[in-house]
Amino acid sequence: MTANTEVGTDLDKAVALLRAGELVAIPTETVYGLAGNALAEAAVTRIFRVKDRPTFDPLIVHLARWEQATDYVDHIPAPAQRLAAAFLPGPLTLLLPRRDCIPDLVTAGSPRVAVRVPAHPLTQALLARLDFPLAAPSANPFGYISPTTPAHVVRQLGGKIPYVLDGGPARVGVESTIVGFDGERAIVLRKGGIAIEAIEAALGQPVAVQEHSTSNPAAPGMLASHYAPRVRIVVGDDLTALAARFADRQVGVLAFQRPLPGIDEARQQVLSPTGDLAESAQRFFAALRQLDEMNLDLILAEWLPEIGLGRAINDRLRRAAAE
Ligand code: TXA
Ligand code: MG
Repeated sequence: MTANTEVGTDLDKAVALLRAGELVAIPTETVYGLAGNALAEAAVTRIFRVKDRPTFDPLIVHLARWEQATDYVDHIPAPAQRLAAAFLPGPLTLLLPRRDCIPDLVTAGSPRVAVRVPAHPLTQALLARLDFPLAAPSANPFGYISPTTPAHVVRQLGGKIPYVLDGGPARVGVESTIVGFDGERAIVLRKGGIAIEAIEAALGQPVAVQEHSTSNPAAPGMLASHYAPRVRIVVGDDLTALAARFADRQVGVLAFQRPLPGIDEARQQVLSPTGDLAESAQRFFAALRQLDEMNLDLILAEWLPEIGLGRAINDRLRRAAAE
């Protein structure tokens, strides 16, 4: 489609390309997105094609400001308003009843549209200069590890898009938390950059979490086997036991706080020596990707504490390990 993919910080260039219906990879605080004009079917079609993504998997619509949401959705339940006030701009996506101006292709025919206001300053500036919102899935081929740096995007989509807007490494590192509403009741549909505990604190009550399966995805595309590395990954509570079980194999290790004794540290990635879950989230996809590119037989990973951002990381580990 495009011979060369350029990387830079030229907002004028990004604006011009997007106005012309082209795609631009954009930095967000969660992961890099593959962005196009959400109101132009041709651009949206191009997103699906470049990602090799099935059209039954809908796209998130990115806005400069939460106040613009009423242009695209026709009802905002009280808890959605409360979550928006607490967390936007930020790594939270709200699933709301859509208006007709949103193309069917964006929502895969669903009456609800996913709306997000990203916090990254460069993308904030970009959105502020456009008179249309940006549809943007993560900028990776469908089903593969999400990109958290421009280099990740270029490695996977190089030659297929004209421009990557360089906003440095993503600060949060896992995708936005997606919250839907059953009437006035909030339901977490994807664990992500805003911890469930924080959502509960903002709402002043416990929130339901809907788990997904391949046979019955709660939202299409939130499939069991997602974020998959090419190399097989096995996750457990005890890395020592896992290493013993696969002693005859060339393994890599994705560890939480310390490397596993007895295995070459060149084949290990440690997420956070201090046990910081935000730091772990920030490093997670890059670490998984690095191991995946090492020609190993197998990646051994350990579960993180099932609290805060640990829950979002464990969710991605579970999906990466799903056959
Ligand atoms: O942090 C993020 O959310 C990143 C950055 C780039 O914004 N975006 C992202 O997009 O993760 P994507 O396409 O990789 O994941 C979006 C998820 C998919 O699982 C999709 O099925 C779901 O959101 N989704 C989007 N629109 C939906 C809709 N109308 N109804 C149900 N699920 C929807
Ligand atoms: Mg994705």
